[in-house]
Amino acid sequence: MAKILGIGNTVLDIILTVTHPPKEDQEIRATHKHIQSGGNINNMLYVLNQLGHQTDLCTTVAADSEAKILLKNVAHRGIGTEHVQTFIKGQTPTSYIHLNAQNGSRTIVHYRDLPEVNFEQFAKIEIEEYDWIHFEGRNMDNLPGMINIAKTFLTHQPISLEVEKPREGIESIFSQANLIIFSHHYASAKGFPDGQTLLESLDLPNTDLVCTWGARGAWFKEKNGPIKHQVAVKINQAIDTLGAGDTFNASLIHKFYETSSLSKSVAFACELAAKKCQQQGLDGLLKPTSKQQPIANIKHLSAEKTTVVQTEDLKSYVLIKYNDEIRCYLNNCPHQNVHLNEAYKIDVNPFEKTIKCSVHDAWFNIEDGECIKGPCWKETLESVALTLGDNGDIYLKE
Ligand code: FRU
Repeated sequence: MAKILGIGNTVLDIILTVTHPPKEDQEIRATHKHIQSGGNINNMLYVLNQLGHQTDLCTTVAADSEAKILLKNVAHRGIGTEHVQTFIKGQTPTSYIHLNAQNGSRTIVHYRDLPEVNFEQFAKIEIEEYDWIHFEGRNMDNLPGMINIAKTFLTHQPISLEVEKPREGIESIFSQANLIIFSHHYASAKGFPDGQTLLESLDLPNTDLVCTWGARGAWFKEKNGPIKHQVAVKINQAIDTLGAGDTFNASLIHKFYETSSLSKSVAFACELAAKKCQQQGLDGLLKPTSKQQPIANIKHLSAEKTTVVQTEDLKSYVLIKYNDEIRCYLNNCPHQNVHLNEAYKIDVNPFEKTIKCSVHDAWFNIEDGECIKGPCWKETLESVALTLGDNGDIYLKE
């Protein structure tokens, strides 16, 4: 499993299922209404979580009531929100989406007036902690600086870039990325009839390149290799195409991290994107049982900081190193049955080897979970048994 940081915009999606798209000046009835968090990066990280990775989101949110719904949904997806910055000025970015029940196509009207992630916000993150960094190709006032420091500070971790739409000057940062995923919107807007001609036009010998084209499949080019094409998986009945591109990008990164083979990764990404089109939403894309998936990797744990993870069944766990061992507790304070990080992060006292519930300041021994100070004195956190895989992946014990 990898620890992945994604930088981009998060959106509240208000999805109305319609039997046909409305014409101008027409009033129609929707058959369903559904609200969920969206935005390419948030969707991607959610799929990456389902593929067994640990993910953190670097984004901006507003301070309005919709932002609460948005953040709750992001956390519910198991995505880390430590690097999310709140802005007082501006509203929650919102997409009003018509989902056509006949063919799964989606029409989006998007509203945003919120500042995007800026250089200062990004520069505070300890990016060296991550195994992979992914940027949305937007926000050209800040992105060149951000990708530049990522390039400077990272030694071996790949940087990927999604190029969905043309943005002025974006071409100047292409050589900073290790993997670029172009969408057909970008290629078409630049006058290319297919991915082949787009990739031929680029002189980027050190970058792996992919260009997706929906039902026409994807073109790709490994560093210094020839351009190849992958046909799309045939879909009988598309149900919901919202987030299919995000699923493609996440699956591509997942397989590439695992195998370093671009052709295997593109094939896998086409498969999962097709699967996504045939189901509603992004939930349960792989339908794994939580016990088959690692919950963390030992290299990401520390004795000074807790790691909180949530499994598919929405159980939350707190992990921390204790000497050379790992301790894992159910994320539940026995005092009032709340998450230990409900109010704030879980403080760690590395000298006394204790952790603190953020709600009512109960201190627990890291070693055995016993409360040594606070309202639930002598009660204990519920310890969870683990198994450790050869590559450091940590599993809940069956
Ligand atoms: C899907 C999506 C939606 C969002 C829109 C614009 O790819 O990310 O969730 O509303 O695109 O960002």
